[in-house]
Amino acid sequence: MRPGIGLSAPARFSRTVATSARDGRYAPLEQRDIEVFTEVLGTQNVIRDSQALEACNRDWMGKYVGQSQVVLRPSSTKQLSKVMAHCHGRRLAVVPQAGNTGLAGGSVPVFDEVILQTGGMDQIHSFDEVSGALQCQSGCILGKLNEHIAEAGYTMPLDLGPKDECQIGGNVSTNAGGLKLIRYGSLHGSVLGLEVVLADGTILDTMTPLRKDNTGYDVKQLFIGAEGTLGIISGVSLLCPPRPAAVNLMFLAVQDWPSALQTFVRAKRKLGEILSAFEFLDSSALDLTLHQLPHIKNPLPQQQAPFYLLVETSGSNGDHDYAKLKAFFEAEKRDGLILDGTVASDKDHIAEIWRLRENISVALNKAGKTYKYDMSLPVAEMYGLVEDVRERLQQYPVNVVGYGHLGDSNIHLNVSTETWNDDVLHDLEPYVYEWVSERRGSISAEHGLGQMKSQYIGYTKGPEAINMMQSLKQLLDPNGILNPYKVLPAEPKFLTATPPSFSAGTGPDSASYSASQDLVISLALSSSILLGQPGAALASDGQSAGEVGKCLFANCPGALAQCVTDKTCLQDLICLQGCSGSEDETACQVSCNQRYENKAVAAFQACAVTQEGCVAQKADENLYPAPPISALVSDFDTTKYKGKWYITAGQNELFDQFDCQVHYFDAPKPGVLDVKLNWRISTGDDFLERSDTQNFKQVKDTKGLLLNHDNVKPLHYEDDWHILAAKPDKYIFVYYKGNNDAWKGYGGSTIYTRESVMPEEYKDEMRAAAKKVNLDFDKDFKLTDNTCKPHPADTDKATRAEGNADDVSARDLEDMLEPFGNGRVILKKGLAKQLSASK
Ligand code: FAD
Ligand code: MLT
Ligand code: ZN
Repeated sequence: MRPGIGLSAPARFSRTVATSARDGRYAPLEQRDIEVFTEVLGTQNVIRDSQALEACNRDWMGKYVGQSQVVLRPSSTKQLSKVMAHCHGRRLAVVPQAGNTGLAGGSVPVFDEVILQTGGMDQIHSFDEVSGALQCQSGCILGKLNEHIAEAGYTMPLDLGPKDECQIGGNVSTNAGGLKLIRYGSLHGSVLGLEVVLADGTILDTMTPLRKDNTGYDVKQLFIGAEGTLGIISGVSLLCPPRPAAVNLMFLAVQDWPSALQTFVRAKRKLGEILSAFEFLDSSALDLTLHQLPHIKNPLPQQQAPFYLLVETSGSNGDHDYAKLKAFFEAEKRDGLILDGTVASDKDHIAEIWRLRENISVALNKAGKTYKYDMSLPVAEMYGLVEDVRERLQQYPVNVVGYGHLGDSNIHLNVSTETWNDDVLHDLEPYVYEWVSERRGSISAEHGLGQMKSQYIGYTKGPEAINMMQSLKQLLDPNGILNPYKVLPAEPKFLTATPPSFSAGTGPDSASYSASQDLVISLALSSSILLGQPGAALASDGQSAGEVGKCLFANCPGALAQCVTDKTCLQDLICLQGCSGSEDETACQVSCNQRYENKAVAAFQACAVTQEGCVAQKADENLYPAPPISALVSDFDTTKYKGKWYITAGQNELFDQFDCQVHYFDAPKPGVLDVKLNWRISTGDDFLERSDTQNFKQVKDTKGLLLNHDNVKPLHYEDDWHILAAKPDKYIFVYYKGNNDAWKGYGGSTIYTRESVMPEEYKDEMRAAAKKVNLDFDKDFKLTDNTCKPHPADTDKATRAEGNADDVSARDLEDMLEPFGNGRVILKKGLAKQLSASK
C-alpha cells in the first residue's frame, strides 16, 4: 500500500502489450539517419516501402504490430557494427529480426524501433567434417544449414516447425527447444561460440570451434536466450551431431494422462539410447488441426482417444531399431497402456505424421486468434493446467487445446478464440502464471518472454536474478537501445528527457547526459542526504551530511555512479533537492520518489539505506502496534471482495490521504488476495500515476489477517493487512503495518468503499471499527475524494519535470556541498573513476 521505491507491477489489467507509452529516451528517426544507413548499407538494404514495412512490423500470429519506419539489412558484421554505433550514439532503439517466427512478440517493434534484419547475413563459413563444428553467419536459415551438412553425414542439433523460415541467429537468441531437445539437449550445450555486435557497435568475437574452453566466464551463454536485448548475434559456431542412419516413428493413442506418462517412462527404459522425440497432442489439438488443414492426414482414423503420442527413434541400424520399436509397441499394447498405434519407417510416412504435429500452431492461426502459453511444469501435473483452464473458461466460446514436448516437461496451452476478448484474457492472466509459479514451473519453456511476458518474469525468476539481469543489461546496453520493452519488466517513465540531437554527433560521448560531470556528481552528493526516507530528513536524525557522503563514497560508489549516469535517477535527486526546506518536505519527497521511481534509484536506495545503512533506516518505535486478534473480523472470504475499490478515508497522511486512488482486488482462489494499487497523486493542475501489485495470503485460522510476505513482483515494501471491518460490496477497513527500505514498522489505515466518496451511512460502523484500535474516526481520518478529473489536455509533464531541474543552480549545489569537506573531493574523484570505468 505504501509508495516506495521498487519495480513496477505486472500489467495485469491491461491488454497484451509490454508498455503503454513510448520511452522518450529514444530519438525519433530523422532523414539524416536514413542517409547514414544508406551510406553504410546501400539503398536497396534500407527498406522504407510501406508494404514491406507492414509485413516486418507484424508478428507471426498477427498479435503484435509495431510502427517502424525503416528496415535495415546488413550483409556483414562490419556493416552491422557501423549501424549499431550510429544507433547507439543517436539513441535510436533497435529490434533485431531474423525469420520473424517468434511467438512472444520479441521480433517486432513495440513502437517505432528500427528493424534490423539479419537475413542478408547468410554465409556459411566452414564445416569441419571430423568434429562436426559448423561456423556460419547468423542469418542462415535452419533448414538450409541442415541440408548443407547432410551431405557430410551430419544433422543440426535442433528441429522445429518453421525450419525453412527461422534463422540460426533467431534460434540461438530464443534458445529454441523444438522437437529433438530430448536427444540433442539445449543450445546452451551445442553452441561452441558466437560473434556478437554489442549495442555500441563493439564486435565481441568468441567464435571458437573448440568443444572445451575453461578460460573463466563463458560469456557467449549470456546471449543464448537473451532475445536480442544484450547484443546482435552475427556469427554462430555450433556442434552438429552425426545424422542418424535409421529413423522410425510411432503414433500412439492412449486413454489418459497417466498412460501417456507411463508410456514415456517405459520408452526411456526400453528405447533409451535411440529415443529422439517424445511429443504429445490432445484430441482437441488433433481435431482442430484436421479441421483447419484438410490436407493433413489423421494417422489413426479409426481410433478416438484423449491423447496421442509421437515417439521417434534415431539410430544407426534400421532393422535393429525397427525390431526394438515394434517389440515395444506390441508389449505396451498387450499391457493395455496403448489403445492403438502405427509405426512408420518410410521417410514419407514419417514426414506425414510429423506434419500433423508441426502444424498445430499453423491450424490455430487459421482458426482465429490464439492466447498462447508455453510452460515448463512437473510432468505429472502438466496437463492439469489445460483441464483447469478449460473449466475456468467454460462460459466462453473458446477452444482450449494442449500439446507439446512431453519428453521435456514442456506444455503448450493454447486458447483459440474467434476474436481477441479482454474478458478471456482477464480470466487467463495472471491465473495461468500463478498456476505455474505455485508449482515452481517456468512461464516460458522455449518461446521466450518477448513483449508478451516481460511484465510477468517475476512469476518464475526471483528478485535477485532479475536485478542481476538488469545490471547485465545496463552494462552491455547502457542506453537501453536493444529490443526495448522486451524480456525485462518496464518501469513507469514520467520523464521525457530530450535525446541528443543529430548535430550533437554520433559518438558514445554525445549520448551521455549533457550536464557537466562535475555538476552531476555534486548533485548526487548533495541530494543523497535526502534520498533515504520519505518521512524523515537525515539531518534531523542526527547524521551529519559529511558522514553520509563519506559512507556513500566508501560503500556505494557503484550505485552512486549508476545513479548519476541515469537520467531518471538524477531527476529524482534533483527533485528531492527541490524539497529541501520546503513547507511540506516529507510529502514532497514522497512525491519525488513516486514520480521518478526506477531501478537506478532502487539500486542506490538499496545500497545507501538497506545494505550499508549510510542513511539510517527509521526504527520500529511501535507507532503502529499490530491490533489484537480480537479486533479483527472473524471471517473474510477474499473471493467476495473482487473488483474495483476506492480509498475514501485514510489515516496516515504520508500514504493514505491522496485523492483519486482506485484499486483492483482479485482472488484467484480462497485465502489469496491480489491487490493492484493505482496511485493518482495531485500535482496541482494535474496528477501523477503509479501502480504496484501486492499479493496477500490469509492466515489459516485468523481470517482477518492477510500476510504480505511473498509479493510476486519484487517491491521495496511489504505490509500485512489487519481487517477491522468488512462487508462484501460495501466496505473494507484495513489497518496495515509493515516495513520498507526507509522505515521499519510504518503503518496506517485505509477504508475502501465501492463508491468514490464515503457514504454517510457507513460512518457509524467505521467509528466503531476505528475504536477497536484506539483511533478516532472523526479526528484521525481524512475523507478523500476519488472523483478524478482527466489529465488537462495541454499538460506537458516532460517540460514541467525538466523545469524542476532548472530550479537548482550550480551555485546552490556548491553551497550545499560545503559540509562534506574533504569527503566531497574524494567522492568526486572516486565517482569520476567509476564513471570512466563504466564507460
Ligand atoms: P525471430 O522470431 O525473428 O526472433 C526471435 C527473437 O530473437 C526476437 O526477440 C529477436 O529480436 C531476436 N533475434 C533474432 N535474431 C537475432 C540475432 N541475430 N541476434 C540477436 N537477437 C536476435 N520455438 C521453439 O523453441 N520450439 C518449437 O518447437 C517451436 N515451434 C514453432 C512452430 C511454429 C509454427 C512457429 C511459428 C514458431 C515456433 N517456435 C518454436 C518459435 C520460433 O520459431 C522460435 O523461437 C525461433 O527460434 C525463432 O527464430 P526466428 O529466426 O524466427 O527469430
Ligand atoms: C510447438 O511445439 O509446436 C511450438 O513451440 C509452437 C507452438 O507452441 O505453437
Ligand atoms: Zn514447442
